[in-house]
Parts: sequence; structure tokens; C-alpha cells
Amino acid sequence: MSLAIPPGTFDVVPQSCKEPWKQASIWQYVERVCRKIANGYACQEVRTPIFERTELFCRSVGEETDIVNKEMYTFEDRGNRSLTLRPEGTASVMRSFITNKLQNLGAYHRLFYLGPMFRYERPQAGRYRQHHQFGVEVLGSDQEEQDAELLVLIYHLFEALGLQNVEFIVNHLGTDSERADYRSSLIQYLKKHEDKLSSDSQRRLQTNPLRILDSKDQADQQILELAPKIQHFLGEESSTSFNKIIKLLDNLKVPYKVDPHLVRGLDYYTGFVYEVKAGKLAAQSSLGGGGRYDGLLKSLGGPDLPSCGFAIGLERVIQTLLEQGNFEVPFQSSQVLIVPMGMRELEHGLSIASRVRKEGISCQLLMKPTKLKNGLKKASQNGNRFVLIIGQDEMEKEVYTLKDMQESNQVEVTLEQLVEHLARG
Ligand code: HAM
Repeated sequence: MSLAIPPGTFDVVPQSCKEPWKQASIWQYVERVCRKIANGYACQEVRTPIFERTELFCRSVGEETDIVNKEMYTFEDRGNRSLTLRPEGTASVMRSFITNKLQNLGAYHRLFYLGPMFRYERPQAGRYRQHHQFGVEVLGSDQEEQDAELLVLIYHLFEALGLQNVEFIVNHLGTDSERADYRSSLIQYLKKHEDKLSSDSQRRLQTNPLRILDSKDQADQQILELAPKIQHFLGEESSTSFNKIIKLLDNLKVPYKVDPHLVRGLDYYTGFVYEVKAGKLAAQSSLGGGGRYDGLLKSLGGPDLPSCGFAIGLERVIQTLLEQGNFEVPFQSSQVLIVPMGMRELEHGLSIASRVRKEGISCQLLMKPTKLKNGLKKASQNGNRFVLIIGQDEMEKEVYTLKDMQESNQVEVTLEQLVEHLARG
């Protein structure tokens, strides 16, 4: 039996010297900040199953997208249903909104989610088969201020995490009919250069021509330089709306670049779309992306609520934070280590630990009698702030020696004094 972890997956572990981005304390920290920001922006959590009926993703993400075509983990369950591990969160949140009739609670909703997504992609740095997203979906507003607010939320989140060189790439995909006109014009242009396009783009010309716009192939990029631009196909309303969002971003001092080639890889988008990058990983991949998807909820059988949202990839955010070098990995150790010097002291230590923990103070009791020197060594390896030594003497007098590893001093304390001392920190 092979114990190798499946390709493109990873474990989050208490400590990883070689790959510190896998350290649990960093994940907990980033998730905590995501939740705090979501809370600060009045978003409420939605948790959906990690698998859904396959049809949901075909109908929302789109039959001709890479995600649906090549990347889904699809299987049949024992009841012959075709199910798929969710490749993204938006479709599931829409399904959940409809199933739970959340429209009965009002016409405006701010939702967030945090969890694993699954895509069968070629594993490489920053690309996994199981990755984790923090996403926000807002239903019920078609205001440009709403689009802008979500970019501010991401900017605020990245600032809170300490990410630097954050920049948004923005574009406007127009209405369905504007996009259809643009699509025809793009196909017409690309057909003239078809033989020089990469094989991927030749295939996409038949299936999903807009996706050719974000091809990384050099020959494709050269051909695209003179391709028609979506901006020239936007009607009055779409242009005004795009300009308004841009102006809001200027006023809010959110850094962005307009990229007429940004189309995003999911079919449900309409109107304003964006991706966000930061630092080195930026060269190859986005930390997050999103946009408006006004027709999605209705097309799945829900109410006609204009909607927009985004998701960021936690692996990429964490790796970028570490790459940028000014992030200190939060240390994860209990505040106090109790060192029993004999078997009776161990039993005594158990009740002291229990008393201390009742006060909400994190505490580890060594489960084996340990000499003072080894106990102190263990504490400095662990990074414990305090060490409580229990020897025979201490146990009999019920007065203990508490060492402060940070201040390099020690005090004699009774149990009650100990609790007070630790609570003060
Ligand atoms: P997406 O751009 O496909 O959008 O994914 C969002 C983010 O998830 C990406 O920017 C990236 O950071 C991360 N990500 C995606 N695939 C992988 C992977 N294989 N390995 C590591 N990270 C990955 C969506 O999923 C949309 N649902 C976002 C959205 C929400 N739009 C509107 N609402």
C-alpha cells in the first residue's frame, strides 16, 4: 500500500520547516482574519456540502469552460446520481440560497464561505487539486458602489494580512448581447489567423473563443494585440457603469489596471470583472478573482437578484505572504508547561492543569516525570512563556516555582496566585 498523498494535495501540519506555508498556525491566523473582515463587512456564513449534483456546475460555471470540461472530480454514487466535488463556491451558494428559500428573509444578502475546492489541474507551485477559498457573494444590488465595496473588502483583507504590492486587474464584459457581438467580431478576426494560433486556442476558437484572450502563448498574444477590444462593443449603459466603478476605485485609492483581455474562466460573469495580484506569485497567477453575475440566480430557478462576488485562494495568499518576507509565522504553543518531577507529581499536575485551563489559560502537562533541566529545554523548544515545576517539596507545601522564560525570572506561587499571575500574562 502506498501512503503517498494524492498529487496536488497537501497536509496542514503543526510544523513544517521545509514548507512553512503548510503550518497550521498560519492557516488558522489567515482564516481568523478572513472571518473578522467578513464580520466587519456584515457578511454571514454559508456552509455547503463539498459535493453537489454535477448538473449544477455544468449549468452555472458553463459546459465549455476548462473547469467543467477537464477539471471536475465527478463520480457516480451508489444511487446512480452523478455528483461532483465542488470546483468553486458561487454555484453552491446560489443552490443553497434557492434550496433554503433565503429570499424569504429579504431582497439583499451578504454571504461568505471558507473551504476546500477541487479541480483536476496539473499540479505546480500555487496550483493544487484541492485548494481553499475565502469567498463573498452579495445578492440583491446592482449598484456600482456594491462592486467597488467588494474590491475595498479584498484590499482591506490583504492590508490586514500584511500583503504588499496589491493590484487589481479590472475589465467590463458588457451585457449578454454586447458580449455576443464582441464574440462574433473576435471570432471573425481570429479565424484569419487560425493557423498561427496555439493548438489550445484553435480548439477554443470552436468552443470558448473569449478564453483565447487570456492565453499565455506568445504567438497568440501577438495576434491578440490587434484583436478587437471589448470596450468598443460596450453600449452607453455599460460604459457609464464601468467608468463609475473606476472613478469609485480612484476615490477609494484602490490600485487597479484596466485589462481588456481579462475575461475570467467561468461563464456566469456579466459586466464588471476583476482579478487581484500581489508580489512575486503575481507574475503567474491571481490571488483572487470575481465579478458580477446578474443572471445566475434566476437561471438556476431562483429570484431575479443582481449579484456579485469574489473568491481568493488561501494557498496563494499564504505563499505570497511568506514570499514577501515581512510576515512572522505565528507561534503556536501553550502559555504554560507543567513539569512534574515524579509520578505522584504527575498526578498532582493533572489537577493543577485542569484548574489553570478552567481559566481559559492554555497549558501542557508533560506526561512523564522529567528533570528540571530537560523540562526547561522542552519549554524553550516549544516556545512556552511559563514553566511550572512540581517537585516533592512543591507538592507538599502547595507552593510552586513558576519560571518566566521571556523575562528570565521566577516566582514562588500558590495555586490561586498562579492562576492570577498567568491570567495577567
Ligand atoms: P476563480 O478565479 O476560479 O474564481 O478562483 C478564485 C481563486 O481561487 C483564484 O484566484 C486562485 O487564487 C484560487 N484557485 C483557483 N484554482 C486554484 C488551484 N487549482 N490551486 C490553487 N488555487 C486556486 C472562482 O472560483 C469564482 N467562484 C470566484 C467568484 C465568486 N466569482 C464570483 N463570486
